Amino acid sequence: MYKIAVIGGDGTGPEVVREGLKVMQAASKKFGFKYETKDFDFTGQRYLKTGKLVDDGDIEELKKYNAIYLGAVGDPKVKPGIIETGVLLKLRFALDQYINLRPVKLYSSTYCPLKDKKPEDIDFVVVRENSEGLYKGMGEFQKKGTKDEVAIQISYNTRGGVERCIRYAFEYTRKRNKRKKLTLCGKTNVLTYAWDLWERTFNEVAKEYPDVTTDYAHVDATTMWFVKNPDWFDVIVTDNMFGDIITDLGAMIQGGMGIAAGGNINPQGVSMFEPIGGSAPKYTGKNVINPLAAICAAGMMLENLGEVKAGKAIEDAVIKIVAAKLKSLAAGKMGYSTQEVGDLVAANL
Ligand code: IPM
Ligand code: MN
Repeated sequence: MYKIAVIGGDGTGPEVVREGLKVMQAASKKFGFKYETKDFDFTGQRYLKTGKLVDDGDIEELKKYNAIYLGAVGDPKVKPGIIETGVLLKLRFALDQYINLRPVKLYSSTYCPLKDKKPEDIDFVVVRENSEGLYKGMGEFQKKGTKDEVAIQISYNTRGGVERCIRYAFEYTRKRNKRKKLTLCGKTNVLTYAWDLWERTFNEVAKEYPDVTTDYAHVDATTMWFVKNPDWFDVIVTDNMFGDIITDLGAMIQGGMGIAAGGNINPQGVSMFEPIGGSAPKYTGKNVINPLAAICAAGMMLENLGEVKAGKAIEDAVIKIVAAKLKSLAAGKMGYSTQEVGDLVAANL
């Protein structure tokens, strides 16, 4: 019996999570696994009413679950940054979900904004470090408010933090067993402290994985290759900030935020799965948002729990629906409502 903590969150989050749970229920009937869910109200609305975000008691409670299923965070009525750091980043850091795993896979060439790209050209995974770097929030103001003001934002990289991420990426590349190529995406030519550590660690760990081909690309060049030659990539490992940026571009070339899912992974603890798009306030409550990213996130969650067949079946069902039914992957243009898309995937299972 899997215990799943459900955080619908803000905006369209609850709507897409509902469809993901619908598909999970269909999968549980077919594949015979059992689960129970509990809802957690970590929202902007709750914050506005009570001032509460995620606290240490909530973290202890969440540690009793096998996984967390998250919809979206971000409420336009709350100052940007409060919910993001107080809910999403708090969960990632406090649960030490040190990997952010973001598959970039094109399901149908129809939805690719790049000319002439086919599904076999766009199929890679970004392993984003999820606990350090610029996201650590270290830094200071000097002479704040004066014309001589200085704002310092530190990228914090530890050998241990970098090594566990790189090791995960090598293991993942080996297990994925496709082209067995791991690309380090960095900026060794300018950020000479952080990327020196990353590169040294990468080269050392690489010696233990002679079956994995390694490569290096600067982050700026990486964005160029995503557009020009996405077929060059198999698995990419990078830091928190670069991973954040390149995976938005990754989402676009795979068909947009409507389809892009990710996992915040603690390989020894509680992991959290989410569609990578935001809370889409303007579509909230309209039954028009694309739930496929959330459905794919549910599939990733099942795979991570060990229900590999169920996870794969959900992905296959999504591929079929995307190819045979949907007019578009964009909100309001799918030709079906949010609930109908959930129904289609569940029925296809
Ligand atoms: C993401 C998001 C978050 C991030 C925000 C909402 C804090 O953009 O998951 O990529 O920057 O990591
Ligand atoms: Mn992002």
